[in-house]
Formats: sequence, C-alpha cells, structure tokens
Amino acid sequence: MTGLFITLEGPEGAGKSTNREYLAEQLRAAGVDVVLTREPGGTPLAERIRELLLDPSDEKMDADTELLLVFAARAQHLAEVIRPALARGAVVLCDRFTDATYAYQGGGRGLSVARIATLEHFVQGDLRPDLTLVFDLPVDIGLARATARGRLDRFEQEGRAFFEAVRNAYLQRAASQPARYALVDASLPLAQVQQSLDALMPQILGRIHG
Ligand code: TMP
Repeated sequence: MTGLFITLEGPEGAGKSTNREYLAEQLRAAGVDVVLTREPGGTPLAERIRELLLDPSDEKMDADTELLLVFAARAQHLAEVIRPALARGAVVLCDRFTDATYAYQGGGRGLSVARIATLEHFVQGDLRPDLTLVFDLPVDIGLARATARGRLDRFEQEGRAFFEAVRNAYLQRAASQPARYALVDASLPLAQVQQSLDALMPQILGRIHG
C-alpha cells in the first residue's frame, strides 16, 4: 500500500497552518487516515534542528550549513514519520517540504538548483510529493502578516528582495510541472481560499481511492 503525500508551500503569512487544519478536517470527515506534520521538524530531533535554523544568532549561518541542516532534519522526518505513514497507506499533509528548499535556499540564498537536487536525490531517493499546494501571496501582504505576529525568526528577518526571490522560485516550479502543483490565491478572504480547497477534494479523494 502506498498513501498520498501532499505538501503545502508558500511564504510566511499565507495561512498554510489554518488551511492545513481545514484540509485535514475535510479528509478525516471523508474517513481518510491523515498524518499532519511540518518541516523543518516533525520529530523531536528534527524539531531541535528547526530551532537551530530559525533562531536568530550573532554568528551568521553559512548558506551551505543551512542547506545541510534542512536536509538533515528531512532525513530524520522521512525515516521516522513520512515513509512509515505512506507505507501504511495514510495521507501525509506536510507543511513545507523540498519545494521550500528550492525557494528559500535556492531562490532566496542563491544556491544552485543542481546542488539542491543532489541532496534531494541523496536524502529522498525517488520520493516526491504527489501534490503540492502553493499558497501564493504578494510579498508585502505576507511580510505585513508575519510582522503583525510578533517576534521575527531568522528567515522572517530577511528583506523584500529575499521574499520576492522565494515567491518567484515557487511560481516557476509550479509553472514548470502543472500536474503536481495547485496554485492557491492566498490573498483572497479565507472563505474563498477554503472554497478552492473544497474544489480540490474530489481530485485528492480520487487519487486515494483510485
Ligand atoms: P514556518 O514553517 O513557520 O513557515 O517556518 C519555517 C521556515 O523555514 C520558513 O521561513 C521557511 C524555512 N525553510 C527553509 O528555508 N527551507 C526548507 O527546506 C524548509 C522546509 C523551510
């Protein structure tokens, strides 16, 4: 049995967490075994790596260190949570995955796609998400929402240009493989965003049962 691997992507402030809960509720109501998780993190060890990644510190983190930490957390998460859940046939709903690495470490930090792809293959083998929802939002709206939440983490402290590059990387990836990505306009009111998620449900349920 293999389950379904769905990832949610987008900038900070795009409402990923709220919408992840909403999708999980809809799927559970349809009788689906859902595992909700997130990256970086998802296991106690990977959550500790997350703290290293998000904590602003006086020592500037090298971009390669950041990339390797992201994939170290991912290796642990895959081994402990994602692969076992998929093996028992569950739907894994994961808040961020390797598309975030292409967007933040690739687009934002300027690391090469080839370097990221090498680690992706090393850590994941052939495993890729079956479906990726990209919650797209103009940079200014996302930054305003993140700032309103309070203390900014190490990524949130980046400037506009960084987040423009992150957004462009997500949009390019979504455009290059339309079959795997669903673009969601996260600037719309929540009720409308959730209507677009409702519209995806038949496709998701079809893939589980099909
Ligand atoms: P969030 O899960 O609260 O949105 O924060 C996680 C942060 O980590 C976010 O700023 C994006 C960043 N991140 C990366 O830079 N690379 C990655 O591969 C992942 C999964 C997250």
